[in-house]
Amino acid sequence: MKVLGIETSCDETGVALYEHGRGIVAEALASQAAVHAQFGGVVPELASRDHISKLAPMVCTVLDDANSSLEELDAIAYTAGPGLIGALMVGGALAESLALGLGIPAIPVHHMEAHLLACLLERDPPEFPFLALLVSGGHTQLVEVRELGRYRIVGETLDDAAGEAFDKVARLLSLPYPGGPALAALAEDGDAERYAFPRPLKGRGLDFSFSGLKTAVRLAVEAESREHGGSLPDAVRADLAASFQAAVVDSLVSKCGRALDETGLGRLVIAGGVGANRNLRATLAELGEQGGAQVRYPRPALCTDNGAMVAYAGACRYSGGTAAGHRIIARPRWPLDELSPP
Ligand code: KG4
Ligand code: ZN
Repeated sequence: MKVLGIETSCDETGVALYEHGRGIVAEALASQAAVHAQFGGVVPELASRDHISKLAPMVCTVLDDANSSLEELDAIAYTAGPGLIGALMVGGALAESLALGLGIPAIPVHHMEAHLLACLLERDPPEFPFLALLVSGGHTQLVEVRELGRYRIVGETLDDAAGEAFDKVARLLSLPYPGGPALAALAEDGDAERYAFPRPLKGRGLDFSFSGLKTAVRLAVEAESREHGGSLPDAVRADLAASFQAAVVDSLVSKCGRALDETGLGRLVIAGGVGANRNLRATLAELGEQGGAQVRYPRPALCTDNGAMVAYAGACRYSGGTAAGHRIIARPRWPLDELSPP
């Protein structure tokens, strides 16, 4: 069984070919960071246009690299949401039209389900059920994953997503877009204890909140800037970045600990772009060692957006018997717990 996966929900164009028994046999990824950098964030119209110009050639490249062809495909999976409507429609239109022409099914994939399942592409994959920490640019959720399509959200952010907080604080520190990785790099040289930033909702329930933390960082940035005659010395920026990152990681990790206790699950899986953060990965690994839970995370390239996770999620749904009609599905908002098993 061969399934082509197409990801165009935001600012990465991802294409991959998944083959049952072999795994991902070829993949391609094009980042739009350079397109959006001058605007400090993703410009939806530019994202759609860039996907349009890159996507079809990337499909050809992936098939060539895999020594395969369109005729050998059994299904084509594409991200149908959540995401930017125009960007989603680029992937959906190509996937549905190719599938229609080839007489095979197109499988609409939920982007967050694809993130959740990405760790199953790694060697020695975790078994169901597990607890997942889903941390991306638009989502921060703790999800009880019983099986494919059976998800219960046990905690989520009440305001900003963790990735969004990284991106906003990166802007306060004059770091280039995309902010998360740049902030993490700056934090490496900083003192994480220099500023005692708040850990909102710590010790209470399983929900997260990051907007108060972001305000606390903004106030600290303004105070330091006044102190230093209007600009921030690099050492101060690094300390601010490290202290902010420590607060986010502490909030995420402490809620993971509580959620493992409350659900009684013994496995924790990390998914989504912020899952690429080294500090978060290391601290969660410690949590697992202390509490006897198995902690798994996919390699960083499988945490951030990619075509491989979409091909894999599509293959799982296809082999589970998900019915597909040839209608382009693009859902900017799509709650994860609306999904059901195939
Ligand atoms: O999952 P993803 O690639 O796209 C969405 O579905 O949103 O996540 C992107 C988010 C961005 O906010 C980005 O700044 C953040 O993940 N991110 C990171 C790191 N790498 C990506 N945040 C912190 N540390 C990183 N190393
Ligand atoms: Zn994503």
